[in-house]
Amino acid sequence: MTGVLAGVVLLVTLVLALSAALMMARRRLVPDLSIAVTVNDHAPFESRFGTDLLGALAAHDILLPAACGGAGTCGQCRVRVRGEPVAPMPAERARLSRAERRAGMHLACQLRLRGPVAVELPEALLGARGFDCTLLRARFLTPLIRELVLEAPSDVAGSVQAGAFVSLTAPPHDFGFDAIEVPERFAEDWSELRGLRAVMTAPATRAYSIASTPADLAQGHFVLLIRLALPPPDRPRLPPGAVSSWLFHVEKGTRIAASGPHGDFRAQAGTREMVLIGGGVGMAPLRAIIHEQLGQGASQPISFWYGARRRDDLYYTGEFAALARRYPNFRFEVALSDPRPDEPWGGRTGFVHAALRDGLLRDHAAPEACDYYLCGPPLMIAAVMGVLDEAGVPPTRIFFDDFGS
Ligand SMILES: Cc1cc2nc3c(=O)[nH]c(=O)nc-3n(C[C@H](O)[C@H](O)[C@H](O)COP(=O)(O)OP(=O)(O)OC[C@H]3O[C@@H](n4cnc5c(N)ncnc54)[C@H](O)[C@@H]3O)c2cc1C
Ligand code: FES
Repeated sequence: MTGVLAGVVLLVTLVLALSAALMMARRRLVPDLSIAVTVNDHAPFESRFGTDLLGALAAHDILLPAACGGAGTCGQCRVRVRGEPVAPMPAERARLSRAERRAGMHLACQLRLRGPVAVELPEALLGARGFDCTLLRARFLTPLIRELVLEAPSDVAGSVQAGAFVSLTAPPHDFGFDAIEVPERFAEDWSELRGLRAVMTAPATRAYSIASTPADLAQGHFVLLIRLALPPPDRPRLPPGAVSSWLFHVEKGTRIAASGPHGDFRAQAGTREMVLIGGGVGMAPLRAIIHEQLGQGASQPISFWYGARRRDDLYYTGEFAALARRYPNFRFEVALSDPRPDEPWGGRTGFVHAALRDGLLRDHAAPEACDYYLCGPPLMIAAVMGVLDEAGVPPTRIFFDDFGS
């Protein structure tokens, strides 16, 4: 018995001694230093040694877009570091081109503060700030797309340029998908999703494009189109999307932490013909741009090409059809790639890139003279890029909103 006790005491003493040694080593190796951070030519601020730059900037109300919440996968939190080159981290090699890395670009979430640092950011980003929104109303537009209307502070809504996005933060949560209220018409689509569970133990932040019209913004309303991120079909046991699941569950009156507006996807200055191509929730920034341009009296031709699989995936079509009736310079085209045999559809069929090629590019006198705005699933974007390239459109006339997946 005495031997056992002596062993326990020895073990505890050893653990305590090791912990103390570790703490001392940590204190020596990770000094409690203040590090000066300079942004553009503003006065420097102090942050702590070892903090990541994204967090250091956020602590000083400089809220960079960070769709992946600091995981290094979205590539949104770009900064240029001035002065001595800093070795890139693996995530930076994956998200930044060689030319960008040579130019000193980094991902703020991957950069740990080890010494004074000076970074360059678009001045517009310094204006983005954190705020709370309130969910005013929500409705399903398709089985997997939910429209949210949020009430935002009026000065923030007033500063939004069409094409911008906001970052929303979901708090920790734990709920089953059977708690999500689904309209009767989509009940069948949801029958297999009922067993899913959304569990998150820490807050997470993601980016969502603002689909608001100028009239929505004038009322301080952010219209967001949220697509539920489901586990990949070949890995059904993975968890569903952390933030989109929560945004399918939030109820009227919920306060949602946000920051923004962010982003540089917007209509280019000038009077070049505008061709917008979208799919899924890629509709969001395109809708904002179309309403902004038509509302401002743009007189050049503007066409919107929207691709979906089947009729159930379509939404806002009545609204765009009405715009096309009202504005002679606006054209709206839909292509369904996989319409169900039992649903009547007299419109275009096939993929949207093919519809664009056959319905516009092939007979266009100068496709290279138009500006192209793309937002949608990566496969759609790649296919559209292919037909634009065939039509001789230079990459400098193509503008993307990259949702990062
Ligand atoms: C500028 C910008 C604008 C955007 N605008 C919109 C918009 O308007 N509307 C919109 O819906 N989205 C938009 N997005 C995308 C959005 O920010 C999120 O990426 C999206 O909602 C998914 O986030 P999530 O937290 O729900 O999913 P996440 O938790 O990030 O998961 C993503 C996917 O990974 C799967 N997954 C989970 N665990 C694993 C694992 N271990 N291994 C592999 N896969 C896993 C999930 O099932 C899910 O399918 C935008 C993105 C950007 C960058
Ligand atoms: S927040 Fe840095 S890459 Fe996403």
